Amino acid sequence: MTSKRTQELIQADKEHQVHPWWITGQEISRVFEKGHGIYLVDTEGKEYMDFASQLVCSNLGHHCPEIIEAITAALDKIHYVTNFYGQTNVYAIELSQKLAQITPGGLKRFYYTCGGSEATDTALKMARAYWYFKGQAGKYKIISLYDSYHGLSGYSINVTGLGGGRMHSPFGPAPAGFLRVPSYYDYRSMFGDVPDSAVMSARFMEKVVQQEGAATIAAFIAEPILGSGGHVEPPAEWWAMVTEICRKNNILLIVDEVMTGFCRTGKMFASEHWNLQPDIMTMAKGITAAVLPFGGVAFSDEVYSAFEGKPFPHGFTYAAHPVCCAASIATIDYYLKNRIAENAAKVGEHIKNRLDAEFMPLPCVGQHGGRGLFQAIELVTDKGSKKPISVAQNGVLTQKLYEQGIWTRIQGPNLNRMEICPPCTITVEEADKALDIIKPILAGFKPE
Ligand SMILES: Cc1ncc(COP(=O)(O)O)c(C=O)c1O
Repeated sequence: MTSKRTQELIQADKEHQVHPWWITGQEISRVFEKGHGIYLVDTEGKEYMDFASQLVCSNLGHHCPEIIEAITAALDKIHYVTNFYGQTNVYAIELSQKLAQITPGGLKRFYYTCGGSEATDTALKMARAYWYFKGQAGKYKIISLYDSYHGLSGYSINVTGLGGGRMHSPFGPAPAGFLRVPSYYDYRSMFGDVPDSAVMSARFMEKVVQQEGAATIAAFIAEPILGSGGHVEPPAEWWAMVTEICRKNNILLIVDEVMTGFCRTGKMFASEHWNLQPDIMTMAKGITAAVLPFGGVAFSDEVYSAFEGKPFPHGFTYAAHPVCCAASIATIDYYLKNRIAENAAKVGEHIKNRLDAEFMPLPCVGQHGGRGLFQAIELVTDKGSKKPISVAQNGVLTQKLYEQGIWTRIQGPNLNRMEICPPCTITVEEADKALDIIKPILAGFKPE
């Protein structure tokens, strides 16, 4: 029986709030008010193990005193100051120095935003402006992947490839210059059941560059490992091939580390797994472990050189907000001091081994993928035909997980990939506890 307080909160929510990705007008079922470790606690006092780090962003779980302290100390000194007009704040400078020591490929120039979509917008505008300032305004097209997710703001939505139109259709035609190519999601390749579909994806991209003309293409954007697209890792040769195509054709490489960055995949940045050297790299989520909304773009000296001596006509009121910068400094310090990337790699490997040994034999598990604490299980009604579970079955399974105190999402291109993305602080024992709850739920799943 739900308490009177929770019922009143839910009713008030229904009267006043519209939520992202929820049926408008339908009552919500949970209201959270606190958290500790990897747990979230709702207004009924029920505890949920967060096995998706919410939107794969709460990298340090749900109560981190070190970050609270840093935020409080910063707030006590300054609330806000703009980063426009030839001024900044001390926290933004310290953060930039810190980021320059950990970003891949020697990136040491930064531009701050309030989240991931703004970071994508900034990266895309930066890529186009780079060629414009170099006198090649005709180089404006951007290539991205189907199955990718880069945000839903007015600009970033044009590179997001996920959703089969669900996210795009209500908003009219896309502006010119955005092209998408098949991803490396091998289990369900757009090329059909063929060997080496990931290699075909890279070759397809090369063909698109040839057909459109390299002189018209500004940049290629991709996540190092597909995130909302199902936590799918590319095979080793894919990144080498697309990097080579970009270099050969003077196409800027934008790597979106919004979800994969900050320890999530077992390295500080997932780019490190393939030694990527992005020209532009986006960050958000783990940059403050989601304690405050924040994001940024890192870019190379070469990209910087095109902007030097001119204003970049772009910016947000809360860019480089001092309190968010202070939170980010404390978050990065925490990652480094407590070797959080190593923990994500270690627990991730343990989870992967259990998925291989104990989950793959289950009739509804078709495949699993990802790395570190950035993994997913592909749920099917039949292994032979690979038919994905239905939306209704997704709902039933998710509800069962909630009832048993596990919070995760089943999403991806076909809404059938269950996220295994707990906070990067999780212990092996906690991961085992969650897997021991999930396994019988999946074992008991009846497709009909
Ligand atoms: C890879 C990637 N890029 C960009 C975004 C957009 O970030 P935000 O929701 O903070 O705007 C997301 C969000 O999930 C993401 O996963």
